[in-house]
Amino acid sequence: MSTRNLSEKSITKAVIARNSKAESARFKTVITSLVKNLHRFARDVKLTEDEWNYGIDFLTRTGQLCSDKRQEFILLSDTLGLSTLVTQLNHHSRGKETEQTVFGPFHREKAPVYAMGDNISKGIRGVPCFVSGKISDAKGKPIAGAVLDVWHSDDDGAYDVQRAEWKGAMRMRGVFKPGPDGKFHLRTVRPKYYPVPTDGPTGELLKAAARHPMRPAHIHFMVNAKGYDRLVTHVFVKGDEYIDSDAVFGVRDSLISKFKMHKAGKAPDGTVVRTPYCTLHYDFVMRPAKKAGKKDGARKK
Ligand SMILES: [Fe+2]
Repeated sequence: MSTRNLSEKSITKAVIARNSKAESARFKTVITSLVKNLHRFARDVKLTEDEWNYGIDFLTRTGQLCSDKRQEFILLSDTLGLSTLVTQLNHHSRGKETEQTVFGPFHREKAPVYAMGDNISKGIRGVPCFVSGKISDAKGKPIAGAVLDVWHSDDDGAYDVQRAEWKGAMRMRGVFKPGPDGKFHLRTVRPKYYPVPTDGPTGELLKAAARHPMRPAHIHFMVNAKGYDRLVTHVFVKGDEYIDSDAVFGVRDSLISKFKMHKAGKAPDGTVVRTPYCTLHYDFVMRPAKKAGKKDGARKK
């Protein structure tokens, strides 16, 4: 197909035809749909050249803000609901298995590995929080060899990467390796609700849409275990004022849990806590990994 004299009507077919020799069938499916929908969007809103320029600049600035400490593209995807859509497309909620939710922009690779029961928030003020639970399959059988990655915000709603004074130190995050019984426990501080970063392009978008940037308080968990789907999820604090208006659309009923308050005294790990503290108990139920070539939709619901 000639690419000369293309009109606003013929351009889409021409681009699709130009991509049609791609070796990968999946690439062809994705790029064809992307071109179709991108062009449909431009036609739908009758995109002006100023708007096109703004869009290019917006995406450029989004990329320029990304680093090993900040992921503005994930934040943009989260606030547009794309992250939740992709999560739901790939992890249909079923039965006892723990629901997945958005990964978020604050995970960091190579977090410190802690011994069971360790405190990941040493030196950080806040309500002491004792977290415990078990990692099992849907029949309740413990999963040996699972690796649990935990990360969350502090009592001011800030992540370690947002504290310039900590100079890159990893705090309120860590990796735990439960034993054959699948059980884990750790100490930290109770997380607080927080605004997603609004000093970049995503903040611009939220402002233009007259949206608040708040996320309800939560702790992020990621569980990796051989033979099971990677579980990426949060546990949200029951009763949080933003529980029904999460800026990134990540809340699910099954992930809301009570962070139970206790008077000062003996904590679950046997230590004495001189201030009121809270406890969270949450069990994670893993989903067996999909067999190669088996589509998710083909599984029994
Ligand atoms: Fe978070």
